Amino acid sequence: MAMITTPGVRELSRRANLMPRSAIREIMTLAAGRGDVIHLEVGEPDFGTPDHIIERTCTEIRGGATRYTGNAGRETLRATIAAHVSRRVGIEISSDRVIVTVGAIGALFTALMAVLDSGDEVLLPDPGWPNYESITVLAGGCPLRYRLSASNDFLPDPDDIAKRIGPKTKAILVNSPGNPTGGVFPLDVVRAIGAIAERTGVYVISDEIYENIVFDGARHFSFLAHTPEDRVFFISGASKSYAMTGWRLGWLVCPTDTVAVATKLQEPIVSCAPAPSQAAAEAALVGPQDLVESSRRVFERRRDIFLELLGPTGLIAGHPRGAFYGLVKIPNWYPSALAFARSLVIEHGVAVVPGDTFGPSTERMLRVAFTVEDGQLREGLRRLAEAIGG
Ligand SMILES: Cc1ncc(COP(=O)(O)O)c(C=O)c1O
Repeated sequence: MAMITTPGVRELSRRANLMPRSAIREIMTLAAGRGDVIHLEVGEPDFGTPDHIIERTCTEIRGGATRYTGNAGRETLRATIAAHVSRRVGIEISSDRVIVTVGAIGALFTALMAVLDSGDEVLLPDPGWPNYESITVLAGGCPLRYRLSASNDFLPDPDDIAKRIGPKTKAILVNSPGNPTGGVFPLDVVRAIGAIAERTGVYVISDEIYENIVFDGARHFSFLAHTPEDRVFFISGASKSYAMTGWRLGWLVCPTDTVAVATKLQEPIVSCAPAPSQAAAEAALVGPQDLVESSRRVFERRRDIFLELLGPTGLIAGHPRGAFYGLVKIPNWYPSALAFARSLVIEHGVAVVPGDTFGPSTERMLRVAFTVEDGQLREGLRRLAEAIGG
């Protein structure tokens, strides 16, 4: 990415200037306003936030949930999150370790800011969500990649991770279920990475935002339960499980010794997560949970449609077992994934994300999101298969 400069004016921050722009946003911008485009680029559930959450939030707003809360979030929500996470993960988590953040992204930012000094290294998945690299760069850290390969169903090789740890490595960032891979780490992989953290003293920063979206009867194993308590940052939130992306509400469970630093970090970044969104997250966690399972089933059905329609092209990479994404290889005759993704929008009316935005290993792939209703998904995948020549 080239530095943007204005002659005669002092330079902008190199960090900000050189931070890569997410190609997800680039394709969204290209596709916006084109009426005929089917949107398979956006990673958000296509359902509305359930009414009971909206109703309870409105009542709370009228009742005064409009003010600053403590940096770590309101106490009733911290306790609710602690109880929820404890139940899910199967170990007791104290509410003192919970920090309410602005989206899971706010939790990632907090965790990385808390552990990184300039020049410190973080091991990031290749492929992985592009924001991991952007945040690492903004926090002054140095992103290094470990490989998730399609031939291994996009699971990491713990020995390979261990070999990459050097004196400057502060953290291993993991994401299961994974974006863009759909990979779900089995218990032995989770345990092996937890053991690496125990042996070497590095932190595990575990982004489990898709924890409720797993398929084929698979189970989600949380790093929180299999990494020493003083070495794991657990990240999740309301966005994907409760159709609440726009509320911007996430949470972080920190090692006890890091809570003071992570809490302090909220002040200059956001002070606190928005009070109405905190009320909404509490309503989501204490209210009926049917949406969590019903939307999981919808995403599994759509994953099946993806396999049914694109499987015959022979171009699907890996077998998505969670989240709501699939990766497709681009034909050899196309110069680049970005050029192909652009032409898909303009000439074929379907928007997908070029794989290079997730890392070098997917530079000749596209990410498809299963976040439109079945009929639209079928039509979008038909257009994609036609463009590929399948
Ligand atoms: C892997 C991953 N982590 C985190 C997020 C961000 O979640 P939130 O909307 O809660 O900030 C996303 C959003 O797409 C994601 O794909």
